[in-house]
Amino acid sequence: MQTRGQVLVVDDELSVRESMKMILNGRFDVQTADSGYSALEIAKKKDFDVVVLDIRMPDLSGIEVLRNLKEMEHSPEVVLVTAYASLETAKDAIKLGAYDYIEKPFSMDNFREVVSKGVERKQKSAQATQLANDFEVVRKQLIQLEKLSSLGRMTSEVIHELATPITGLLGFSEFLLDQECDEIIKNSLRKIRSEAERCQTIIRNILTFARKTEGEKKSVNINEVIAKTIDIKSHQFRLDNIRCNLELDPNLPDTLADFGQIQQVIVNILNNAQDALRKQNPPKIISITTSYDTEHIYIMIANNGPHIPEDILELIFEPFFTTKGSEQGTGLGLSISRDIIRRHNGDIQVYSKSGEGVAFTIYLPLIEQKVEG
Ligand SMILES: Nc1ncnc2c1ncn2[C@@H]1O[C@H](COP(=O)(O)OP(=O)(O)OP(=O)(O)O)[C@@H](O)[C@H]1O
Ligand SMILES: [Mg+2]
Repeated sequence: MQTRGQVLVVDDELSVRESMKMILNGRFDVQTADSGYSALEIAKKKDFDVVVLDIRMPDLSGIEVLRNLKEMEHSPEVVLVTAYASLETAKDAIKLGAYDYIEKPFSMDNFREVVSKGVERKQKSAQATQLANDFEVVRKQLIQLEKLSSLGRMTSEVIHELATPITGLLGFSEFLLDQECDEIIKNSLRKIRSEAERCQTIIRNILTFARKTEGEKKSVNINEVIAKTIDIKSHQFRLDNIRCNLELDPNLPDTLADFGQIQQVIVNILNNAQDALRKQNPPKIISITTSYDTEHIYIMIANNGPHIPEDILELIFEPFFTTKGSEQGTGLGLSISRDIIRRHNGDIQVYSKSGEGVAFTIYLPLIEQKVEG
């Protein structure tokens, strides 16, 4: 957004200062300084778009002030005012970075025009700097995303690789269970088989989760999505000493949703809860509750970790907002989750107060299945 131009007029003669100020006042915010030194002091405290500088002043000359101004971090555009239009002085000024000079006496229109050009130039270059900075931020984020996506591809490949030996384990344990052997060995074999089955379930769940889904909505039972997701996470929860309490309404109606996408949302929220509980003293609790009314299905995922401060609370759904540092988080989890839920015509809300932990509630529309016939 373009703001009103900020102009500093520097001249040791009061009448000149005041007349210049009068000419510019309607269009810009104008401040004045009566010497080179005071101009530099003022410019240190405030960013100006344009400084209008008298070339001849008793303490510091306009050229000296120009040199100092150009060394400042947010250096303004400078126009020099000269009573005797010496081409040499003007050339010096331009070499030192002044964008123009104006000869006394000048017309009001000409003066206004020169200053306007300077303001425009300064504001455009500020915008360009801002754009370049934004571009750099986005470029870094893209690199991070690319890294994550190749990590995801590698993970899927590893998981696929694991599927074959686990099928072998299952097959051989089945085979051995059919053979004559004593009960102690049979018990161990049953354990091997059930652990291999568990691995198979985990692999299947991860593959469902990783598969790119184009939002294919089918009749889904949300309790089932939660159970499958917990299967993926339960081992990590055990390692982190996290207890997961489920209160799933057994009468929860099915709704139309994309299984994989809803699972992705739940994983994202559970990952965040797990991260938050890392610094928390036991008991570390995540609770998942499902319920419904005539219009919605509600999934509430809460944890008893530290609350989210109020000033951060309104930012957490913004893409790339993270408090975990760029090595730990991309800041995309919640924004992707909200996007998915909104594409299901639902919404996600967060509740967090000091001493009450954090709770995310997902609303999904209750879409009844049309009964044919
Ligand atoms: N359960 C929670 N408790 C405390 N803070 C949370 C919780 N969930 C989210 N946040 C805050 O919201 C921020 C954004 O979360 P989001 O999932 O979008 O990104 P991230 O977890 O930082 O990174 P990513 O999910 O991409 O790995 C987090 O960095 C964290 O500060
Ligand atoms: Mg996250």
